[in-house]
Amino acid sequence: MITAAGNRAVHYQPANLAARAALVLRDNDNGNLVTASPKLYPHMWSWDAAFISMGLAYLDVGRAVRELDTLLSAQWRDGMIPHIVFTSDTDYFPGPDRWGTDLAPQRPDGVRTSGICQPPVHAIALRRILETARKTSQADAELAESFAERAWSSLYRWHRWIVRHRMPDASGLVAIVHGWESGMDNSPRWDEPYAAVLPGADLPPYVRLDLLQVGDPGERPSDDEYDRYLWLIEQMRRADYNPDKVVQTSGFLVGDVFTTALFALASDTLAGIGDELGAPEGEIAELRRWAARARAAVAMSCHPETGMARDRDMRRGRWLATETIAGFSPLLCGGLAHEVEQQLISTLDSPRWSGHPDLLAAVPPSVSPESEDFDSRRYWRGPQWPVITWLFGWAFEQRGWQRHASEFRAQGVHLVSDGSFGEYYEPFTGKPLGSTNQSWTAAVVLDWLCGV
Ligand code: SER
Repeated sequence: MITAAGNRAVHYQPANLAARAALVLRDNDNGNLVTASPKLYPHMWSWDAAFISMGLAYLDVGRAVRELDTLLSAQWRDGMIPHIVFTSDTDYFPGPDRWGTDLAPQRPDGVRTSGICQPPVHAIALRRILETARKTSQADAELAESFAERAWSSLYRWHRWIVRHRMPDASGLVAIVHGWESGMDNSPRWDEPYAAVLPGADLPPYVRLDLLQVGDPGERPSDDEYDRYLWLIEQMRRADYNPDKVVQTSGFLVGDVFTTALFALASDTLAGIGDELGAPEGEIAELRRWAARARAAVAMSCHPETGMARDRDMRRGRWLATETIAGFSPLLCGGLAHEVEQQLISTLDSPRWSGHPDLLAAVPPSVSPESEDFDSRRYWRGPQWPVITWLFGWAFEQRGWQRHASEFRAQGVHLVSDGSFGEYYEPFTGKPLGSTNQSWTAAVVLDWLCGV
């Protein structure tokens, strides 16, 4: 609850907060999948599902495994993991009829999905599930390990799909064909490439349903942005969702530096799991090569003066420098020279970012409050996202930066301690925005509180 002065009146202690997080996951569980949120997102989203499975592992390892099994059963025949696996709910737009993937030759049988993907964080979730299960009991460890043996080659094929179909130029960056693929739908990162997407007069009419769930349209992307989102889907439908045709024809083709960093991190993680399982050595070596290539691409993207990583508009051959959280991508995957990395860490801690004096919790907002693009309430244009804080914290831990990792964990818990499990938060008041009871927020809270 937020008082008139903007202060949060409720503050849960860790044990109660963890219990509430568990309830959110149970309430959103339909048996085989946990919906991303109760009303706004009544289906399974790919990267949400990864985080959700990691949270479920604290409640029931078997259920965590089932979550990833559900996602992997929707993997396309060519290896792509789709960004939405649809339930029968009809309250979300664009639903399966609008996506029209039913005729795509490589779509999976028996399930309806969208036709794009999302960041490849699944190997990170698998690593976390294995760690949790090994701490719980021998039976849980065996369950998680036998799942890992089953899932490893599906995840390898998913990473191979990215290399084959989404690394189209010499930059080595992973390309996205829709802002939704980045997960950061309306980030200022995409303003320039979206400005060049001109919806055709034959864009079929549509009605937005998200605004029925989120009362304040100022918390969501604009109508103008939605027209572009829908136009890109139209273009992909017309290309039959053939991945190479889509890359050739989409009005939006951007090297996404954040996705590239996650790809590097997840490829190394998957290689490490492969070592433990005795997976084919050639495939493990390939994953490590892909990780090295992606890491180098992230490092190469950095602005020579600010040191911040940049996206690349591949259609126009231009770097896109915006002051967003994605600028810190190299901290996720490494690859910078020591001094350059130290400078980037100082920037992250500075008053332009986590050290901004007016933040309720000292974790980075999606856009710097000092940037002219900053909008404290609008989706990916300013609010803080707990799951992004989790990702940086986890990566910091892998890199041995324990102090930073613990600070992010403590401040992340502070951000969500009102117990609403917001999708995202207004950075100065901590007001939850978008959906409440968002499953991935509950999942990362469980990891922060139970995973130490
Ligand atoms: N995040 C998108 C939405 O808001 C879907 O990927 O619907």
